[in-house]
Amino acid sequence: MPKVTILPGGNSAEVEPGELLLEAGEKAGVDMEAGCSNCSCGTCVVEVVEGMENLEAPTAEELDVLDQWNKDPEKFRLTCCVHIRNGDVIVRQAHS
Ligand code: FES
Repeated sequence: MPKVTILPGGNSAEVEPGELLLEAGEKAGVDMEAGCSNCSCGTCVVEVVEGMENLEAPTAEELDVLDQWNKDPEKFRLTCCVHIRNGDVIVRQAHS
């Protein structure tokens, strides 16, 4: 099962493939930053430290929000928009 680790605390959880990154973080016991939970506000942005290839490709909607925040989609993702495919992922909460 994919393992998701949330920095800076380093909490981690093993989750099913297809899990939302936001839910995976909550399973790891992290108080995840989120606002709309609907891929429109950008509050949930995280830096992907490792495992970008293990995340679903961004939708046009996610890319629009990342662009508004001036975040490079090759490094940053919105946890409420993206599902984990398979394999480990390490992210860093940008707002903490
Ligand atoms: S919580 Fe609003 S975009 Fe993720």
